Amino acid sequence: MNGLFITLEGAEGAGKTTAAKKLVDLYISLGKQVVFTREPGGIEISEQIREIILCNNNTSMDGRTEALLYAAARRQHLVEKVIPALEQGKIVICDRFIDSSLAYQGYARGLGIDNVLKINEFAISGCMPNLTIYFDIDYKIGLSRINKDNKREQNRLDLESEIFHKSVVEGYNLLLDKYPNRIKKIDANMSIDKVVEQCRFIIDKELL
Ligand code: TMP
Repeated sequence: MNGLFITLEGAEGAGKTTAAKKLVDLYISLGKQVVFTREPGGIEISEQIREIILCNNNTSMDGRTEALLYAAARRQHLVEKVIPALEQGKIVICDRFIDSSLAYQGYARGLGIDNVLKINEFAISGCMPNLTIYFDIDYKIGLSRINKDNKREQNRLDLESEIFHKSVVEGYNLLLDKYPNRIKKIDANMSIDKVVEQCRFIIDKELL
């Protein structure tokens, strides 16, 4: 595949989505073909799976069920949207991907990073990102940002305990050690313009 697959990762309220939109505009203005998408979701079937996973009523959902649903949404999204775009040589910027499952389900939910990796290897059949940018933020600052955002609906995962969100960050830190070549960290406590600047520096250096 000729394209570039870039994923953005981080705890809640790290600013990935806002930064991603600015990055897309930036690279389009530089004449690149860019696709922006998100997980879980990005296409009809995966958005439907997202509704099930994140619905606030589904508090009885088992951890393994949750992990399998994220992997299923990921599979369909890859096949329908990400892989075709990469085959056309486009840059795909995806808000969350496999590392979210490893940090949230594998580590924070306690299913085991290796167990969750295994089901995801089946789902993605080798289509790993070329580059992953990790938005590093104190989880408390991230949570206070999302609580202040009135337009944002609180989903089932947002409502998890503070300990869960703290473990998500610990999980990501383990992944930074496990995949030092692929995952690069930026300081997401800064202003949005500074965050975008850091992302651009990494993308240009690593890939373009
Ligand atoms: P979002 O709010 O960033 O769109 O993501 C939805 C929620 O789903 C967020 O709390 C992170 C969580 N998530 C996982 O737990 N595992 C995953 O594999 C993905 C993609 C997201």
